[in-house]
Amino acid sequence: MAYLELHDLEVSFDGFKAVNGLSMAVERGELRCLLGANGAGKSTTMDLICGRTQPTGGRIVLDGADITHEPEYVRARRGVGRKFQVPSVFKELTVRENLEVARSHRPTPWKTMRLFPSARLDERTQKVIEIVGLEDVLGTKAAYLSHGQTQWLELAMLLVQNSALILMDEPTAGMTIQETRKTSEIFNRLRGQHTVIVVEHDMGFVREIAETITVMHQGKLLSEGSIAHVESDPKVMEAYLGSGGISHA
Ligand SMILES: Nc1ncnc2c1ncn2[C@@H]1O[C@H](COP(=O)(O)OP(=O)(O)OP(=O)(O)O)[C@@H](O)[C@H]1O
Ligand SMILES: [Mg+2]
Repeated sequence: MAYLELHDLEVSFDGFKAVNGLSMAVERGELRCLLGANGAGKSTTMDLICGRTQPTGGRIVLDGADITHEPEYVRARRGVGRKFQVPSVFKELTVRENLEVARSHRPTPWKTMRLFPSARLDERTQKVIEIVGLEDVLGTKAAYLSHGQTQWLELAMLLVQNSALILMDEPTAGMTIQETRKTSEIFNRLRGQHTVIVVEHDMGFVREIAETITVMHQGKLLSEGSIAHVESDPKVMEAYLGSGGISHA
């Protein structure tokens, strides 16, 4: 049994099936890329996995447990972490303080600050800071971080919470080439440690990180396998016909 399994998943918005019988399986520690043209149902699939959207059919099984109808906060407790496009960092707090808040699992920063005024960062947090490369800006207020650094901080906040399954929708959107490259390095460091599903349009980035790719089309699974496999799959070529192929999506 795989760590995450989607069985015949379906969601209908006023009769329109944004996800339409999707089945896929992701192993523990895997870094899975989810690809597909605009409107293919990628973000909706992420919403279904984290519980933001309730499916109208099918099942979601996480680590052997049927979570199909569990609310979002219960899934979060199971370790399902979602990174959204708009970062949810505390701008008035430093990088270090943001991580302490995330680590403490407390909804508001103030309690934490009072509880641990100058405690040393624990081992886990230190490790995460190294993984995302934010050592040099620990004392910087989040408000003054670059776009890339803000994204890495938010990822770090999921990592210190020990999120077992991390869902990311277009993490490199708006990043510079250098930031995108650094992000692919971070992802490669996560491999085996966390299970990650990432939606991406940047094929250069996907090439740097991907093992298995799942391609969606009109709410369904179109193709799955290595980059070489999906790029040469006639079904993928047909679906992307006119758009210059998957690499130009
Ligand atoms: N809440 C909703 N109500 C109605 N239709 C929706 C809703 N959410 C998504 N859709 C529709 O479902 C389809 C899939 O949307 P989704 O956002 O999952 O696509 P996507 O693959 O993430 O696309 P993109 O690459 O543009 O982000 C689209 O046609 C979208 O308009
Ligand atoms: Mg989307």
